This record gives sequence, C-alpha cells and structure tokens, in this order.
Amino acid sequence: MASLRNDSSRPIGVFDSGIGGLTVVKELTSRLPNEQIIYFGDTARVPYGSKSNDTVIEYSIQNTHFLLSKNVKAVVVACNTASSVAIPALQDRFDVPIISMIEPGSAFALSKTKSGRIGVIGTRATIGNKAYSTELLKHIPTLEVFEKACPLFVPLVEEGMIESEPTRLIAQEYLDEFKANNIDTLILGCTHYPLLKKVISSVVGEGVTLVDSGIAAAITVAEVLAEYSLLADLPSQKQNEFYVSDLPRQFKKIAELFLGNEITSLQKVDLEVLTALG
Ligand code: DGL
Repeated sequence: MASLRNDSSRPIGVFDSGIGGLTVVKELTSRLPNEQIIYFGDTARVPYGSKSNDTVIEYSIQNTHFLLSKNVKAVVVACNTASSVAIPALQDRFDVPIISMIEPGSAFALSKTKSGRIGVIGTRATIGNKAYSTELLKHIPTLEVFEKACPLFVPLVEEGMIESEPTRLIAQEYLDEFKANNIDTLILGCTHYPLLKKVISSVVGEGVTLVDSGIAAAITVAEVLAEYSLLADLPSQKQNEFYVSDLPRQFKKIAELFLGNEITSLQKVDLEVLTALG
C-alpha cells in the first residue's frame, strides 16, 4: 500500500468552484508536462465567494474526497475562496500534500513590489477573510495593502464575457480607486481573474504588475512534488480528466478556448455522490 501511495505516476488533483481553476491547470500543464491532471469544477454550486466559511469548508472536503477517489497524489485548491478558509481543515483530514493559492501568490507579490504598495482583488469571502493581507503583512508589516472585492467578475467570466464592453465598465468601477492608491503590484486573488488580465491591466495601467496566483501556485506545486519525490519521471500516457457537478455547455466551450486543446474526457458528478463523500 505504501509503495502505491508513493507512486509518482499518480495524477495531480485540482479543484475549483467552476472554471477559474483552469488558469492553474494551464500553468501546471506547461510547467509540468509529464503530469496527468484530474480537475473537478463544482459548477453546480458556484459561486463559493458569497457562501459562508462553513459551507465552503464542507464543499472543499467533499471535493478533496472526490479527487482522492481518483487516486491523486496531491490536491491543488485552485480556488482562492476555498484556499482562504479550508486549508487547515483539509490538511488536518487528508495525508496528501494540499496546495493553497494564498502563500504562493503573496510570495510572488512580495518579490515584485518596489514601493510596498500592493492591491488585492478577490471574492467577498477572500477579501472578507483578509487572506492575502494577513499573509503579506506577516512577512513585511510596513506594507500598504489595499483590498477590494470584485464579485461581478466571476459571473462575467463564467458567462464568457472576457473582453466585452460591460466587463470593461465594471472593471473601471471596481479598480479606478487603485490609481489613487498608487499601487505598483496587484494580486489577482481569484482564479477566475487571470482570464480578465487584459481588461484589468488596461484599467489599472500597464505599469502595475499583475500577480497571477495560478502561475505562482504552479511553481509551488512543482516545488512541493519535488520535495515529496512525487514528480512524474515519465510523460503520462493518460489524458487529463475533467469532472463537473453540472454540465453547462459553457464549461467545455470556455475550457477548450482557454486551454487551447480539445477536452476529451469530461463527466458530470452527481451532487448526491459528492455529498455522500464528506
Ligand atoms: N474561483 C473562485 C476563487 O478563486 C471564485 C469563484 C467563486 O466565487 O466560487 O475565489
């Protein structure tokens, strides 16, 4: 059993409340091409960002159980909302490495800022939990951190309205204040937001470094797998597998557009199955 559990050819599990975690999948596949990925998007219960911490923890435990039922060797919580509340509960309960979005994104921002004035955008839950500011200030207490919840960004992405005019107007409404705050670095503290990078950058100005927490997390995944001797030595012969708790046509369409390849393995997981797991 022990040798099976240490088998580095097992897949990496990734979950998000919907399609946002695909921004992490994209980075993982480009940085770790040998790895097979099992993705779960909780499309029936998205959004997590407006739910209570207890509910997000409960869903995260179920999602992790589901990924472990696919024999994954590590779980990437590719959702900042879940990362901001559920990591201790997951790490207590499960004995595989659990990777959060918060520490990698914060470390990346700290390595980029020169002025020490950092903006953070995320869901109401991530911002309300002060996940990033707590982590950032732990390292440098004199930083100026400006946080803003941008709840409309998630439905805009889920609807595929990536570069539409309404998206631009909403981005202006949310982000204009960062100009007055004179930030030099902005953490995209929600896995959906990298899909809006172009619009966000045009509003805050190209001089502001955008921190894609997906890129930062993918670097951490590589480090953690190496630390546990879990990096796949050979290219996986298996396709990535995608699971969702509801099957909106949008998922396949947006996922293929975003990942740039066809998704050949996409299945729906019934909510009754998920809820029975945790
Ligand atoms: N992907 C989630 C996150 O990173 C946002 C979507 C949601 O609210 O569920 O916070």
